[in-house]
Amino acid sequence: ADEGMWLPLFVKRLNQADMQKKGLKLTAEEIYDINNASLKDAVVQLGGFCTGEFVSSQGLLLTNHHCGYDAIQSHSTPQNNILQNGFYAATKAEEKTNPGLFVDILVRMEDVTGKVLEGISPATPEAERVATVQKRQREMADAAKENGQYVAYVRDMFGGNEYYLFVYQRFGDVRLVGAPPEAVGKFGGDADNWMWPRHTGDFSMFRVYASKDNKPTAGFAADNIPYVPKKHLPVSLQGVSEGDFAMVFGFPGRTQRFLPAAGLQMTLDQSNPVRIKLRDTRLKLWKEDMDQDAALRLKYASKYANIANYWKYFIGQNEGMKRLKTVDQKKAEEASLVQWIGQDPARSQQYGEALTTINQAYAGLRQYNLSSQYVNEAAFGTEIITLSSRMMPLYMVLKATPQDKAAISKATADLKEPVAEYFKDYSVSTDKKVFAALMGLYMKDVPAEQQPDVFQTVKKQYGGSMQKYADYVYANSFLTSEAKVNAFLAAPSLAKLEADPGFKTFNSVYTNYTQNILPKMQGLQAGLTRANRLYVAALREKNSQKVYSPDANSTIRLSYGSVRPYKGRDAVSYDFKTTAQGILEKEDATNPEFVVPQKELELLKMKDYGRYADKNGALPVGFITDNDITGGNSGSPVINGRGELIGLAFDGNWEAMTGDLAYDPELKRCINVDIRYVLWCIEKLGGAKHIVDEMTVVNNGPNPG
Ligand code: ARG
Repeated sequence: ADEGMWLPLFVKRLNQADMQKKGLKLTAEEIYDINNASLKDAVVQLGGFCTGEFVSSQGLLLTNHHCGYDAIQSHSTPQNNILQNGFYAATKAEEKTNPGLFVDILVRMEDVTGKVLEGISPATPEAERVATVQKRQREMADAAKENGQYVAYVRDMFGGNEYYLFVYQRFGDVRLVGAPPEAVGKFGGDADNWMWPRHTGDFSMFRVYASKDNKPTAGFAADNIPYVPKKHLPVSLQGVSEGDFAMVFGFPGRTQRFLPAAGLQMTLDQSNPVRIKLRDTRLKLWKEDMDQDAALRLKYASKYANIANYWKYFIGQNEGMKRLKTVDQKKAEEASLVQWIGQDPARSQQYGEALTTINQAYAGLRQYNLSSQYVNEAAFGTEIITLSSRMMPLYMVLKATPQDKAAISKATADLKEPVAEYFKDYSVSTDKKVFAALMGLYMKDVPAEQQPDVFQTVKKQYGGSMQKYADYVYANSFLTSEAKVNAFLAAPSLAKLEADPGFKTFNSVYTNYTQNILPKMQGLQAGLTRANRLYVAALREKNSQKVYSPDANSTIRLSYGSVRPYKGRDAVSYDFKTTAQGILEKEDATNPEFVVPQKELELLKMKDYGRYADKNGALPVGFITDNDITGGNSGSPVINGRGELIGLAFDGNWEAMTGDLAYDPELKRCINVDIRYVLWCIEKLGGAKHIVDEMTVVNNGPNPG
């Protein structure tokens, strides 16, 4: 289908004829309506980073395994390893609580562009514009919160040319209901990640709980009851055929399709190589230790998966940008835009400066971007620095208001839970190795005049050896042990914190960044914001016949299209679906990424597929559609033309890793797990038929399309 992560608010403005031609049978009101139950009520944002959908009237939520991964890991121990073995709650009493995990359910959204930009003109000085816009965004969001009843924010779209208000209910009691074994939920591991064909059962299940009157609660409460959603999705056994209509509803995180060529170039030759190199280093060191020790493997499983996921993403994005000549394409587009602007004096007046400013700003940003990447990926790639940064609020009160006992005890109390969480999954020896390696690269690769003072200490007192400095830091910092941190929190002292070598290292990095790097970048960024806004406005005006969709920004979107195969490269075509046959083909007992659980092997060899077999008698596993999605969409429902659930979106394909920067309709596909495989895993492999029975399973004949 076409590019587009559309705002559901405007579903009426989408090409209804095209959607119907593709097979949509629902009306616009059945998709998005604020007065009556509609599809949007069945789709939630999970934890701010993923998507989930209701599949029962008792708040049962489906999402991806990789979205539930952190929660699943947190409930796992070597003795009761549910990450490895899988888990299905036999009764609601067995469901597992997850402090901090929440879902947001959209109440309404509104185009507030007119209100935010009222009285602002092209002549308004930029600083004044920014201040006014930010103030109005805050005020509108605050009003919409209705005294804390709702979560609300105003997000900008199209680089600040439009503004939208989003109002949500936030439910803070979300319990784990089930997950397949990791060997199913992450089958193929990092080898298969971001690639098609896929054989991963990437699902997990949660249940949203509410107060007795079906209202959100901030966290777990023993007398909460399952939330009754306004709408839950029926689950279809019909299965997919090429050309079937498919719609994905969810919360895509971030795309940068309006990033100018200079920004693409900086990503390609500066940001991504640094990210890849530093993540590569970190992952190897983590893996060494994880392979030695089963308990450590569990502790670092979720961190590892997260870092590895985007490590491979950056590799794929760079490969793709080179292969598809993404920068050159963008340069050509800009050249024709410049020409169009130059054709008309009024346009030149309005937009003339945009691209020049953009190119100058990026030339400046490139001077500091390397430092900024090393702060993020090297310094904050070490855990002791991350923990130190969490001490900042406490540090600030200790420093600014040392007499304010109440403020100090609040700052201390706020740290209790994060500190416990942190140490639950921490290995000091592993972190020390990572620190020595990553900080060593930081010191080696960043221009001398941009380095934090602490590197002078390393050079003068430790002969330039980051390893020796690490020995000193980890032997002397209290931030390396939970008992010591708790002792500090029991009697917090500014002198003690300031003298701590771990905190000192962080503080040096932080001070250098906020005083020497950030102000320079922010200065350039301010000019860039304005220029980007003009650039996007000019582009939309020039191509007025094209309906642009705004870049993803973690707000609710829908994408529609069809089940569709693709040609990956010259002479290579990919089918649109996979079956359990492929699991057996990939199965490799000697490779942890391709182990198939014994019970699954037996069931597959017996072809015990039950009602989940396709019409050829095979067990369906995955399929692809041409929906436009990105990270954050993970767990999104794939819905057929009748509004029934046919799969869960969980990944994108290797040939289109540049998709977040530039959309290629021939190459970009959305990788989904077939809902029939999900049900098979729950019922046959997991023996949890009671969970399937809770869903509304339907078979209404072939999918429209
Ligand atoms: N690439 C997927 C995404 O970002 C995550 C897949 C998780 N699987 C894995 N092997 N790390 O949505």
